[in-house]
Amino acid sequence: MTYDRVKIEELLNYPGIGRVTLHKLSKLGIEYVHELVLFNPEEIMELANIDIEKACQIIRLARRIVGRRAKALNALEYEHVMNTRKCFTTGVKSIDKLVKGGITVWDICEFAGEYGSGKTQLCHQLAVTVQLPEERGGLESRAVYIDTEGTFSPSRIRDITSRFQLNAEKALKNILVYRPINVAELEELVVEELRSILASNVKLIIIDSIIALYRAEFKGREWLARRQQRINYLIDWLKRYANLYDVAVVYTNQVLSQPVPWGIAYKVPAGGNIIAHAATHRFLLRRSQDKWVIECIDSPKIARGSSATFKITEKGLEDTK
Ligand code: GTP
Ligand code: MG
Repeated sequence: MTYDRVKIEELLNYPGIGRVTLHKLSKLGIEYVHELVLFNPEEIMELANIDIEKACQIIRLARRIVGRRAKALNALEYEHVMNTRKCFTTGVKSIDKLVKGGITVWDICEFAGEYGSGKTQLCHQLAVTVQLPEERGGLESRAVYIDTEGTFSPSRIRDITSRFQLNAEKALKNILVYRPINVAELEELVVEELRSILASNVKLIIIDSIIALYRAEFKGREWLARRQQRINYLIDWLKRYANLYDVAVVYTNQVLSQPVPWGIAYKVPAGGNIIAHAATHRFLLRRSQDKWVIECIDSPKIARGSSATFKITEKGLEDTK
C-alpha cells in the first residue's frame, strides 16, 4: 500500500493535540502521519514522553488519516490479496521455481548456512534483481542492505549488474548500505532510520547476517534471555515494515552443529525459537563440490526438503545448466 505523505502537522487540526505534542513527535524523527501507524501506543509513550491516553489517541488518529482499518476479509478475498502480492526473480530459474515464482513482499525469508554456502552472494544478487524492470521479473525498486559482517562488495554488484544489463552506477545508487557495529546501532537503524526511507520505493530489506552482532554482544547463557528479547524486538519491527510498506525481508543466519549421540552432527540455523518462528520461509544453503544446494526447511507453501541447485560464477548465482 502506498500512503499519501501527510505531514504530522495535520494532527493539529484535531482536538487535544497541540504544538507541544507535535514537537515531541518530531523530536523522534517522525515527519509523516503514516510513520505513526508503525508504533504501539506504549512505544510512543516511552519514546516521546507522552501520557498513554494521548499516545492511544495519536495512533488512532493516524490510522484514521491514512485509512488503515482493522477489517476482516473473507477467505476468498484473502486468497486474492495473497496471490496478487508483488514478487521478484532471484535471477536463477531453479530457485524461482523452488520459491514458487520469486521473493514476495510481506514475506520474511531466512537463508542459513555454513561459511561459503552462498548466503552473501545470494543477498548481492537480490539487491540487483529487485531493481529489474517488471517485464524482466523485477520490481524496479531500491534495496536496503544491512551488512553486519562487513562483506558487502560494490564490485560484486557491478559484476552482477553487467550480467543483467543494468547501469552499474544507477544500480549501486539504488542500494542503501548500512554497516552497524553493534546491536544498539542496528536497532537504531531499523527502528528510526529505516522508517523514513522505506516509503520511497524500497521493496527489499536485506540483513546479512541477523545474528552476528547479537552473538558477539550477548555471550554466555546468562544473557540468552536478553539476547532473544532483543532479536524479537528487531524482527517485530521488520514485520511491521513488511506489512505496512509492502516490503520483502531477507536475512541470513549462521548455523550451529547439533550434536547427536550417534552418527555425524547436523547443522541447524542459529538463534533458537525466536528466529525460527519469525521467518515465513526458511532455507538451508550448502556447498556440494562444484555446485550449491538450497533446501527448504520450513514454509507454509513449499514442501519441506525440496531443493534447487545453482552455481556461483563471476556473474553471480546462475542455473547449473
Ligand atoms: P559466510 O558469510 O562466511 O558465512 O559465507 P557465505 O555463505 O556468505 O558465502 P559467500 O556467499 O560469501 O560465498 C560463497 C562462495 O561464492 C565462495 O566460497 C566462492 O566460492 C564464491 N564466490 C564469491 N565471490 C565470487 C566471485 O567473485 N567469483 C566466483 N566465481 N565465485 C565467487
Ligand atoms: Mg557471508
